Amino acid sequence: MTAMQPIVDMPEIKPRKMKFPFSDVTEQYFYDDNALVSSFMAALSAVFPPGEMGFIESVRYYRDEITDPELQERIGGFIGQEGHHSHQHKKINAVLEDVGWLVSRIEADISKKINYDKKRLGPKNFLAATVGMEHITAVMAEYMLTNPHCLAPLPQSIRDLLNWHAIEEIEHKSVAFDVYQEAVGERGRLRIVFALQTVVFAAQMTAYQVKLLRWAKRTPNFRDVVGAGKFFFAKKGLIRGMAKNYLDFYRDDFHPWDQDNRALIDEWKRTSGYVE
Ligand SMILES: [Fe+2]
Ligand SMILES: [Fe+2]
Repeated sequence: MTAMQPIVDMPEIKPRKMKFPFSDVTEQYFYDDNALVSSFMAALSAVFPPGEMGFIESVRYYRDEITDPELQERIGGFIGQEGHHSHQHKKINAVLEDVGWLVSRIEADISKKINYDKKRLGPKNFLAATVGMEHITAVMAEYMLTNPHCLAPLPQSIRDLLNWHAIEEIEHKSVAFDVYQEAVGERGRLRIVFALQTVVFAAQMTAYQVKLLRWAKRTPNFRDVVGAGKFFFAKKGLIRGMAKNYLDFYRDDFHPWDQDNRALIDEWKRTSGYVE
């Protein structure tokens, strides 16, 4: 089976070693003193390390079947980048634990679930699930980079972490997809898994948020609800901001690089202060 030809020159996938101080993360409600958005950010960070390890494993399973040397090289870059993301999110997770979020419990729980899924789903569906999650993270990355207001209330070091993570998610966004196309190639399966996992992921994230808030003994107040309403559901909010790009995945001929956002990588390179 051959991979679909992307319509753009895909960017190089080079893992970057980053350092974030995180010493500016001193408040439990670090997002605009908002319990709902802060707990969402904490839950998201908690699921990254086990999730990214799962992504790596699902791609590695098929690595030997990939004959294209360029794709092999991109797989190497993908594994390196996801490994670093996982490492940095573990660091911020330890800080989040210190300020009061019991994220280690979430990490342990999602790890167990992913291991169970790996056995229950089998390699094709497990890889399809990775492809879907990579699409969701890439779409979220584009949203965050093009709507800086959504990260503005965060401490600087978390903002830097998420911006770096976002551009690398864009750089490697089609690796799992291209591996799937080459090694499995069943588009129908991809769409079904994607639809199901969207529902499961949204429900799981909500459940984790509820748990984190309960363990923190915090009942959201009116201000929390209004702020979270804006963050998620406003015209330029997360859900509506991601909707169009998210839905593209259901097209028969979709390839992640149909959404050409290479300019965002160049912009980050110009503005982040990172020296290659
Ligand atoms: Fe990542
Ligand atoms: Fe990724």
